[in-house]
Amino acid sequence: MLRNKEIILGVTGGIAAYKAVELLREMVKRGANVHVVMTKNAQQFVSPLTFETLSGNPVLCEMFRLFRGSKIGHVTLADIADLMVIAPATANILGKIANGIADDLLTTMVMAMKVPVLFAPSMNVNMWQSSFVQNNVERLKAHGYQFIGPAEGDLACGGAGRGRLADIAEIIEKIEDIFTKKDLQGQRILVTAGPTLEAIDPIRYITNRSTGKMGFALAKMARRRGAEVTLITGPNYLSLPRRDIQQISVHSAQQMRDVVMEYYEDCHIVIMAAAVADFRPQNTLQEKIKKTNGTYILKLEKNPDILKELGEKKGEHILVGFAAETSELMENAGQKLKEKNLDIIVANDVTQPGAGFGTDTNIVKILDVRGRVRKLPLLSKDEVANIILDQVVKLVRKKQRNLPWPRNW
Ligand code: C5P
Repeated sequence: MLRNKEIILGVTGGIAAYKAVELLREMVKRGANVHVVMTKNAQQFVSPLTFETLSGNPVLCEMFRLFRGSKIGHVTLADIADLMVIAPATANILGKIANGIADDLLTTMVMAMKVPVLFAPSMNVNMWQSSFVQNNVERLKAHGYQFIGPAEGDLACGGAGRGRLADIAEIIEKIEDIFTKKDLQGQRILVTAGPTLEAIDPIRYITNRSTGKMGFALAKMARRRGAEVTLITGPNYLSLPRRDIQQISVHSAQQMRDVVMEYYEDCHIVIMAAAVADFRPQNTLQEKIKKTNGTYILKLEKNPDILKELGEKKGEHILVGFAAETSELMENAGQKLKEKNLDIIVANDVTQPGAGFGTDTNIVKILDVRGRVRKLPLLSKDEVANIILDQVVKLVRKKQRNLPWPRNW
């Protein structure tokens, strides 16, 4: 997403300036060409050499250098940039820009920017809460400047509260968001993720190897593309780099079913990426089962098939299912597509290295109701999520215009 993007990273003089180094690395890792601009005060915290080494570009601190020494010559950075990020943004820089002051290279550049400018503020909690800073933030927002954070937590000045630089993952997510076309705007999407956990007794349970990564990737990408997202998850250890996704935690398949049903009518699209347990213990015991000699027979009964139930009352919904298989992948997936009345099924041979549970990558085939198959190579789960959502967008458009099924996959 950030490949070949020209990004200006403005660093101002706060203790969180050291975190801007990590932000730079993450942007470079994603393929961006980053030009760092530092204020005089920022140089007290981190040496320009650090940013210069990691960005591979000269760090700009003074007006004159921009026009003389740098390889971009007379073309100003403001003209070539796709985005400017100021992280950390101090109370001082917010105040200066909100009041139209341009007395150094960074503030002058901000004034000349025609592309989005993102501020990641970081300061003492009382400074952040001061009416001066709050007024300046409002003013900047009214001018179209964007903000991420600050976050709550321990502060470098001692104490705790809102004032920490947002997590680097959240800043990166915000940057990716700014560059993403909002082709799912207006759509409400329900995504399920993770395993379900079926209790045997108060201590033990049955579950499966799903970690929730595929569902989380789908939820994140759908939100990035403008959808309103509700993510219903079984137990997992994952965190989302955004706070604008409604997350509901459940344990058992029955609980997942109940929550899904509650939200179903109100959504347009359901993507069931959860590995819902097919069976649960017939009786969940209230007391721990005592260790005895010999065998212990556990009787299982079927869990509700959530997706099948959704398919039976499909209406205008778009339904996407997953089929994790260890054999006869396509036959099984095709059958589930029909049985559950789905629009798309994502077939996943979990025996392949790099595919299925727990990995950051996946190898899938996407089948539609017309029997068409799109085979994808080994890709990150984020990439797979985006391709699945591309198909969903086509279905949404078709529905909106009442067109026949899309011809090009
Ligand atoms: O039938 P099978 O479990 O293989 O189908 C997989 C698809 O159905 C997945 O999308 C999964 O989330 C969903 N499913 C469900 N309820 C179940 C079992 C699976 O919704 N009890």
